[in-house]
Amino acid sequence: MTLWGSQVRTLYRAPFESIKFSTDFSLLEFIFRLIFSEVVQTAANSLDKGNLISIRDLRVWFPAKKSFSGKVVSWIRAVDGVSFDIPAGKTIGLVGESGSGKSTIGKAILQLVRPRSGTVNYNGTDLCKLTHSQIKPLRRDLQIIFQDPYNSLNPRLTIFQILSEPLEIHFSKLNHSQRLDRCAELLREVGLQPEHLHRFPHEFSGGQRQRIGIARALAVQPKFIVCDEPVSALDVSVQARIVNLLKDIQQKYHLTYLFIAHDMAVVEHMSDQVIVLNSGKIVEFGDPEQVIHNPQEEYTRTLISSIPTLPV
Ligand SMILES: Nc1ncnc2c1ncn2[C@@H]1O[C@H](COP(=O)(O)OP(=O)(O)OP(=O)(O)O)[C@@H](O)[C@H]1O
Ligand SMILES: [Mg+2]
Repeated sequence: MTLWGSQVRTLYRAPFESIKFSTDFSLLEFIFRLIFSEVVQTAANSLDKGNLISIRDLRVWFPAKKSFSGKVVSWIRAVDGVSFDIPAGKTIGLVGESGSGKSTIGKAILQLVRPRSGTVNYNGTDLCKLTHSQIKPLRRDLQIIFQDPYNSLNPRLTIFQILSEPLEIHFSKLNHSQRLDRCAELLREVGLQPEHLHRFPHEFSGGQRQRIGIARALAVQPKFIVCDEPVSALDVSVQARIVNLLKDIQQKYHLTYLFIAHDMAVVEHMSDQVIVLNSGKIVEFGDPEQVIHNPQEEYTRTLISSIPTLPV
């Protein structure tokens, strides 16, 4: 099959989901890879060495439709050929409209969803190749803070039990009183009181619950945290305080972040580099100043103009 220039341009503009499977699929996929490789390579190469995480050609597809016999006949290409690096101690901001694949990238890095193909290199190890039991010890290094502080904490557990859980797994030598000390220290770290340890999640405000979520991620002394819209569900008045807390603990512990957010002011405040995602693909990448104030792509311009920003 030959694709002429105009056909390629049409395909480039077409939403990826609209392409049906056919015998030409591998050729189409090859052409798409060529078209997008420039943006992808720019994202992958323009950061300094010293990357904690390197992602190459990552794909996560979910079955969209199955035939009567159970065969998958169409796919949701949530992440479709994404490559970028996350330098140690830095923050990569990830923006894109709802459903563009931001959370799926975060989960795929942590192997909470298994990629269809591609590599996630962490400290010289491709996480995608590891079995679940091989990944377990690495979970200590790789943490996530969720968007919704109301649903991400088990309502039946006290804060001490919530913070103790990861300690029991990854610091099994600590006895009960050492765990109590560590949990009290963690609460102080995130601006709460040690007396809060014996309360339940419903006894806290949204901002306080998010602080507990941050404390839980910090408990195991991670190296990398996916912050998946950590302030989106919070009151405007507490958003800035949580963002600043995340920034402070990053500096203190030399943490590396993938920071997913809708709010451009928050993304600009947090990020060293920003990636713009559309339908599972990187469409723009660069310094926050450039991407947010001087976007090169129409998609980014539309995205920025459609999203409200709050002062940080
Ligand atoms: N477990 C799943 N099974 C099937 N489809 C999924 C699954 N998780 C995500 N998807 C689909 O993958 C696409 C990307 O979802 P994702 O949650 O990554 O988007 P997002 O950019 O984080 O959106 P939002 O800003 O709303 O959080 C969406 O079309 C979504 O419906
Ligand atoms: Mg999401």
